[in-house]
Amino acid sequence: MRLDQFVSNSSGLSRKDSKRAISAGRVRVDGKMTKSANSRVPEHAKVTLDNQALTLPDGLYLMMNKPAGVISATNDSSQPTAIDLLPPELARQVHIAGRLDKDTTGLLLLTSDGQWSHQVTSPRRACPKTYRVTLAEPLDEHACQALEQGIELKGEQKPTLPAQVLQNSATEIELTIREGKYHQVKRMLAAVGNHVVSLHRQSIGDIILDPALAPGHYRSLTAQEIQSVVEPD
Ligand code: URA
Repeated sequence: MRLDQFVSNSSGLSRKDSKRAISAGRVRVDGKMTKSANSRVPEHAKVTLDNQALTLPDGLYLMMNKPAGVISATNDSSQPTAIDLLPPELARQVHIAGRLDKDTTGLLLLTSDGQWSHQVTSPRRACPKTYRVTLAEPLDEHACQALEQGIELKGEQKPTLPAQVLQNSATEIELTIREGKYHQVKRMLAAVGNHVVSLHRQSIGDIILDPALAPGHYRSLTAQEIQSVVEPD
């Protein structure tokens, strides 16, 4: 792993701040000041930031920019899955925390930690998820209010929890929901007489899709991102 990646993943600093800390001489690898962010950290090396030892989180925690056309499943012999986009040694270890439809793009979390994925997806935690939604028709005031108040969906016993709507343009909104019912966003928009043309997940809690990740690419979550979705004791 590159040194800036190691520092970022273990300290919670952003990649940019990690690079700054490295070039400022605050980082040592096995006691030696190392100012090159690109240098590789040898296995079992002791890395310190301001003389404090840094340790990588146990387990695997990844974010992926899911492309359209891959399914959110662990394995499927007939269709490509998001897990197929990982190298085999990672693919073997992780599962998906919060699925997306085949045609939905954006933030997908993958982890080897079952308790952590439970915290992300548990309905009791009601972790907010924000989607950029492109609509077939302009969203009128009445529909917007209905989304914000909660909507009865066919086959569900309770109305959806109040959602937040941010209008980017007549036919593009950012919708934040706190549940993960099957096809929820598409069903909510259909219930107000509209139709979802494209759907992109931007964030889950405080974890925001890294704009540097091209579709199909992934990176490790930082310690801060991992911690951000964990309930305090
Ligand atoms: N809601 C949907 O309808 N589809 C998704 O993929 C995610 C949320």
